[in-house]
Amino acid sequence: MMSDYNWFEGIPFPAISYQREILEDIRNRFVVKEEDLLILTYPKSGTNWLVEIVCLIQTKGDPKWIQTVPNWDRSPWIETDIGYPALINKEGPRLISSHLPIHLFSKSFFSSKAKAIYLIRNPRDILVSGYFFYGNTNIVKNPGSFGTYFEWFLKGNVIYGSWFEHVRGWLSMREWDNFLVLYYEDLKKDPKGTIKKICDFLGKNLGPDELDLVFKYSSFQAMKENNMSNFSLITEDRVTNGLKLMRKGTTGDWKNHFTVAQAEAFDKVFQEKMAGFPPGMFPWE
Ligand code: A3P
Repeated sequence: MMSDYNWFEGIPFPAISYQREILEDIRNRFVVKEEDLLILTYPKSGTNWLVEIVCLIQTKGDPKWIQTVPNWDRSPWIETDIGYPALINKEGPRLISSHLPIHLFSKSFFSSKAKAIYLIRNPRDILVSGYFFYGNTNIVKNPGSFGTYFEWFLKGNVIYGSWFEHVRGWLSMREWDNFLVLYYEDLKKDPKGTIKKICDFLGKNLGPDELDLVFKYSSFQAMKENNMSNFSLITEDRVTNGLKLMRKGTTGDWKNHFTVAQAEAFDKVFQEKMAGFPPGMFPWE
């Protein structure tokens, strides 16, 4: 099924669940509270994994919350027509997920003390993950082939626009005390160490057993089996063909999908667009 995007300020948004008025409201009127925690990502970076970890940290490893409440209710997506009203009406500290690029995000955040975590993943793996996740749904324009999606991704003609601009934009905040930058690759390589880092940033002191529980219940397998986290509650009448969130959960899967020419073309664009960052900034490079 072909769907076109909802365009806002030159950025393509998904074809369902998005309204211009909400996007304008978020930027100009939504008030981020000091006790809120923002989970910021470009789509397919491991957002829901981070949501799971943060929820489990809040409950000190007790899985009851993650096993009874869908992830989009635990950490609503601010820019959707379901998430926005839910957040406005929620009292107390809120978990807020967003894929918005920095220039469309709530202005109030930039003068608040609210904490934010920005999770980054190798864009090559994001490209592959997005192709399989959205490619054949009514959320995006159907690319028809991997090659076409590859071209669209490099040009930023995919939902939420260019990965390169998203990451450059949000990384401008990396020196702020209330802003933590994390990498999917580090979560994979050293999950416990990265969970500990998140705890430190949030000022949460978990004991070794509690940290083990966070690790256990946020594993790929545990999330795959958890209907509150694996998107199986999203029915096919809402999203054509449904959504399979828990696909592979690995790093470097792009090598199974890119041709040599595509890998070279990607490297060239990456180097051009991400020039100026210090060596070692991106763990996969
Ligand atoms: P793949 O499609 O490569 O498998 P998002 O939540 O931003 O949409 O990201 C989805 C990606 O994160 C998917 O990648 C998914 O498998 C991966 N993911 C989700 N939970 C994970 C976990 N516990 N461990 C590793 N990867 C996970």
